[in-house]
Amino acid sequence: MKAISAVLRGAALAGILFGVTGCQTLSEQHVTWREGFTPIDPVQQTAAMKRGVNVLSEDPGWKDPVRSRFKPAHFKIIHDAGFNTVRIVMTPFASMDDHGTISPFWIAHLDTMVKAALDQGLTVVIDEHDYELCGKDAVTCRTKLLAFWSQIAPRYKDAPNRVVFELLNEPHEALSDEGWNALLKETLAIVRASNPTRNVIIGPGHWNGLEDLPQLVLPADDRHIIVTFHYYHPMEFTHQGAPWVPQYKQLGVRWGSDADIALLNKEFDIVKAWSEAQKRPIFLGEFGAYETGATADRARWTNAVVRAAEARGFAWAYWQFDKDFIVYDIDKSAWVGPIFSALIPNDAPPAQ
Ligand code: BGC
Repeated sequence: MKAISAVLRGAALAGILFGVTGCQTLSEQHVTWREGFTPIDPVQQTAAMKRGVNVLSEDPGWKDPVRSRFKPAHFKIIHDAGFNTVRIVMTPFASMDDHGTISPFWIAHLDTMVKAALDQGLTVVIDEHDYELCGKDAVTCRTKLLAFWSQIAPRYKDAPNRVVFELLNEPHEALSDEGWNALLKETLAIVRASNPTRNVIIGPGHWNGLEDLPQLVLPADDRHIIVTFHYYHPMEFTHQGAPWVPQYKQLGVRWGSDADIALLNKEFDIVKAWSEAQKRPIFLGEFGAYETGATADRARWTNAVVRAAEARGFAWAYWQFDKDFIVYDIDKSAWVGPIFSALIPNDAPPAQ
């Protein structure tokens, strides 16, 4: 009953906000935007995306806006602190009915967040993050992923070019490199039917690891693609004590020697060389070190990653704003000083 009333409340809200008529589903409705769409070169777009942060992952607001930890007002805090981009992390599969229709309530929440971020001048990456199911069951993943983009791409077709689609976070395991190459082609074709020139973010298989860039097959004639990778090396350091990866349970792993820094730069050089050879700009969509590591080392690592990315012209988005690896403490309404300063140096974190 509670769930039904939440859906009805969401649908009613969406109806008021977006003028729902007749029996069209929300995803078939037209959305009005303050700014129209104009194509932008992906290199230029990557340069403008510069500094970003991942937001809204597993936020309770996806199920009930009343319980949102992340509020639209946080986009102003993010922008004013010096960020240019947000990557909205969402797992919509759970909100789909048996026909793959995304709940109106869920779409209304996404619309609210996208519009609020755009209003702050931010670039918004819409990141399909159902990678856990996709890593286990490639068949169901395909059905749901195609259903998702068949609804969201047309809905957002007139959105300003600061809305960028990321097809799927971290394909892995059940989605082999080969399987992912086939699925990304199919998914991209669906997006291109309504968004022929919007920039789309696509990463390699094996958890968007830089090692699998050579296996990534992109349509050669599609020049509106930004390539993403995630960086958590070495996992023994960045994920020490993280409960979802028990193989890295050893605590006290340090980072920051000259050899550590040299290895990091060598790996970023590999990405840069691939990017130049393929003529594809790069967005480092996730990186971060879990709270169990020593704060000074985490700050040093974060700073080294960011500087390595910026020196090579990669845009980046830190993992993440809230929940874990946090750069902002929502409960205290305050930036986490050492991490914030590692990301955006020369600036004391703004007081709220
Ligand atoms: C996952 C998170 C995880 C992070 C670092 C992300 O892609 O969605 O659950 O905390 O990677 O491991």
